[in-house]
Amino acid sequence: MEIVGIYGSPRKGGNTDKLLDMVLKGVHSNGGYINRVYARDLKILGCRGCDGCAKTGICVVKDDMQEIYPLLEDAKAVILASPIFFYGVTSQIKSLIDRGQAMWARKRLNEKNETPGTQAMGKGYLIAVGATKGKNLFECAKLVAKYYFDALNMTYEDGLFFRGMESIDAADKNPEALQQAYEFGEKIKF
Ligand SMILES: Cc1cc2nc3c(=O)[nH]c(=O)nc-3n(C[C@H](O)[C@H](O)[C@H](O)COP(=O)(O)O)c2cc1C
Repeated sequence: MEIVGIYGSPRKGGNTDKLLDMVLKGVHSNGGYINRVYARDLKILGCRGCDGCAKTGICVVKDDMQEIYPLLEDAKAVILASPIFFYGVTSQIKSLIDRGQAMWARKRLNEKNETPGTQAMGKGYLIAVGATKGKNLFECAKLVAKYYFDALNMTYEDGLFFRGMESIDAADKNPEALQQAYEFGEKIKF
């Protein structure tokens, strides 16, 4: 069982890192192989919208995203984690998400040709953290995640959201939140 955890924060050792680490620790307690993807360490250009993937489902842009596609194709679950930046996900993770267009194109081709792979193939989860406490703080990120997982032929299963975390050590100083993240991971079973 392959699981991909996508770390979306540019801030190394910050709240997203700590919370996703705990979620993945919980996931790992049930076994499985975990691939960790740190978006900040990758050079991933935005989607060109060039339609280069339309007939093949394969992205023509040769950058670090080419290493990520095989991980996503094999994944039984993807856990996307991002801090909220201006009510959305970070640009680091958004370029990775937009490049999911090639996987969406592949899904469309499979449906058209009635080849296998048209069923939901995996489960998607979202972890998000923001500094403020606004009611709609996570709405945009949730929609992005839902439609991203759909492109990956996955279903959006669940999300875990933390408000009021601003400083780099906010999650570290919050054992309850870390425990909640661990338990969220433990519940991810196949
Ligand atoms: C560019 C930028 C934009 C931000 N926008 C928001 C925002 O719209 N709402 C919010 O609640 N927090 C916002 N924040 C605060 C971060 O979401 C918060 O500090 C978070 O804990 C950072 O997570 P990290 O430690 O994983 O990077 C913003 C921070 C930055 C740097």
